[in-house]
Amino acid sequence: MKHYLMAAIAAVMLPVAAQAQMKVNVTVDTEITDGQIIPKEIYGQFAEHLGSCIYGGLWVGPESEIPNIDGYRTDVLEALKTLKVPVMRWPGGCFADEYHWTDGIGPREDRPRMVNSNWGGTVEDNSFGTHEFLNLCEMIGCEPYISGNVGSGTVSELAKWVEYMTAVDGPMAKLRAQNGRKEPWKVKYLGVGNESWGCGGNMLPEYYSHLYRQYQTYCRDFDGNKLYKIGSGATDYDYNWTEVLMKNIGSLMHGVSLHYYTVKGWEGSKGSATEFTDKEYYNTLGKAVEVEPVIVKHIAIMDQYDPQNKVDLLLDEWGTWFDVEPGTNPGHLMQQNTMRDAMVAALSLNIFHKYTERLKMANIAQIANVLQSMVLTQGDKMVLTPTYHTFRMYNVHQDATYLPVSCDSKKFTDSNNRQCPYVDATASRNAEGKVHITLTNTSLKEDAEVTIDLSAAALNGKAAITGEILTSADIHDCNTFDKPQTVKPAAFDGFKVKNGKLIVKLPAKSIVALAL
Ligand code: AHR
Repeated sequence: MKHYLMAAIAAVMLPVAAQAQMKVNVTVDTEITDGQIIPKEIYGQFAEHLGSCIYGGLWVGPESEIPNIDGYRTDVLEALKTLKVPVMRWPGGCFADEYHWTDGIGPREDRPRMVNSNWGGTVEDNSFGTHEFLNLCEMIGCEPYISGNVGSGTVSELAKWVEYMTAVDGPMAKLRAQNGRKEPWKVKYLGVGNESWGCGGNMLPEYYSHLYRQYQTYCRDFDGNKLYKIGSGATDYDYNWTEVLMKNIGSLMHGVSLHYYTVKGWEGSKGSATEFTDKEYYNTLGKAVEVEPVIVKHIAIMDQYDPQNKVDLLLDEWGTWFDVEPGTNPGHLMQQNTMRDAMVAALSLNIFHKYTERLKMANIAQIANVLQSMVLTQGDKMVLTPTYHTFRMYNVHQDATYLPVSCDSKKFTDSNNRQCPYVDATASRNAEGKVHITLTNTSLKEDAEVTIDLSAAALNGKAAITGEILTSADIHDCNTFDKPQTVKPAAFDGFKVKNGKLIVKLPAKSIVALAL
């Protein structure tokens, strides 16, 4: 509550000053014909057995009084369909390297219970397993991304899981049919371990490379299913991990992962998700945009070992990481989500769009109730977070042609000497020729007048342009179970066409999506 009080005092003490306004020029290359496609998988999600991401967040079971379809929460299902989730990674995270898939099949009442020792020691009943996950993917129309257990599993266990999910015939297919699913699922993405340098086995990259070679050998392509195999990649600034993997197993991986969190530091407090100073706000954005040089350096190493660009980079965990909400289990990583998170999401997606020649997937952590989530649930209540709204407004860029953008916004420098633009933009053209431009004004105080230079063809008169805005009176605003609609998108018409240019009045702390 501290910041509300301080804002109230400041409002009383200070004379009302006219809102400052910066002028920014943006150029969008709408004429490009051979541009890079922004893979829809950049908008990927991650669902781990962690806190109430799965149990309570996605799954309540068919017997629950909470409205559900076959055990999946109806409200969350609807929200995810609207979001157009392209791919979902499961069952972890760290959880994946302790998960034994055979515990999660067969009649639910017979499944063994297990201790989730990575995340708070919570006892889980395995009622959400392979069938429940893959059926969910089918229901919301997304690709499953299975994260396999290398840390505490066996080669045969992972090989049999692949067979169970994808083979038409044979012992595993028979077992699957006995458990109610005759047809195999299509499973494309297979992660061979997770964070193998840490919770996934504390391995050295050379040792992991050997294990990867062995594990991937026995993960077969059954009956037309084609696996896309992913090496467990580096965290943040560990360029050596990427280098060793590219050198040793580059020819055996379709993709290699990378994890990057917007976190103050791993030791001590990570700061509150909702109570932060202006300085902390800008530091968070500074850390978020530092993902760009990190991506660039990992790509440079990959370019060296794979000049033909055969191995993809997948940022399969990213997002904000703050202290858990007071009073909640520290192992459950439950955090609120404010307009600051929406800003992090927008700036990050803008960066990802630029590197899709190599960066083919990104999975925000996580889909429900954990870290920078899309939805928060409590009993039968659900709220959409500001990050959800950003993802929904941005999903027009999925599978669209990236249009290069230049923007001359002034920048701020955070306490760690990182620079970040106040105004940022990204653009794409979809298959129907529609141009989408998303603009972000990260400034807490200054509105911006943005002059956008694009071709006359794209600028088809104001009548053809529509807009949507996500903003809020206070950057700390979030959606709670009592007030679920505090931060939500609204129609936006703060733009005009003048002298062949599009002029947009971009309020402070706002995200605007324009469709031309
Ligand atoms: O997303 C939470 C955890 O962060 C994941 O389980 C792990 O892979 C990472 O360290």
